[in-house]
Amino acid sequence: MFTLDQVVLWGRSFDEYRRMFAISEADLSRRILGCADGPASFNAELSARGGNRTGNVVSCDPMYRFSKAELRGRIGDSLRLVLEQTRRNAAEFVWNADIPDIDALGRLRMAAMERFLDDYALGREERRYINAELPSLPFGDDAFDLAVCSHFLFLYSAQFPADFHVAAVAELCRVARDVRIFPLLELGSIRSRHVDAVVEGLREGGFRVGIETVDYEFQRGGNQMLRIER
Ligand SMILES: C[S@@+](CC[C@H](N)C(=O)[O-])C[C@H]1O[C@@H](n2cnc3c(N)ncnc32)[C@H](O)[C@@H]1O
Repeated sequence: MFTLDQVVLWGRSFDEYRRMFAISEADLSRRILGCADGPASFNAELSARGGNRTGNVVSCDPMYRFSKAELRGRIGDSLRLVLEQTRRNAAEFVWNADIPDIDALGRLRMAAMERFLDDYALGREERRYINAELPSLPFGDDAFDLAVCSHFLFLYSAQFPADFHVAAVAELCRVARDVRIFPLLELGSIRSRHVDAVVEGLREGGFRVGIETVDYEFQRGGNQMLRIER
């Protein structure tokens, strides 16, 4: 089974974010927080598009305390570890025209992470990359219209207990009215043990909560997103 002892630095592209979170063209001009964005290129690519001139995309991640050189070293470590785990557990993943094999996976992820690294110095200057971590974020209530969180919550369910998940999701709901989390699986491509507790807590708190199937699946069975609105 695919396992990792701790959270790795691993980054996806703008196109993958759009599909994981069903992000519409209209969403792209909203104030967006990418929480646990790490070395994903969503922020870099969105900021480079003419359509997002207001500077309204912000990423936060505790890894942003590191320099570009330190991040590059950690990304190299993650690359070896994740590709090796994926090779050993290839049956847990969907191989298709988007990602046909392990080499293609490495190339796709490295292209996204290089894009992030190229943007990192400018993005830090522009306050688009903020060193911060769940469950406590340095943003005001409703600072964002949309918050997305990919491949951190639920994925690392064995490393982070249910109460961490409940507090982290509540914090995301404090800073944004529309919160989307992907995937609902934990490592090993099994449904996260914390989904039910989080959904129940949110419904009791009066939030509208839905589980939606999206046009993205790499972890086998991982094509669902949690959408929370108030
Ligand atoms: C596997 S990466 C996912 C990166 C990106 N979201 C993507 O899907 O391409 C997980 C990220 O979670 C970040 N992370 C770890 N602990 C965190 C916390 N308490 N709050 C927010 N992010 C955290 C890590 O630093 C890492 O960058």
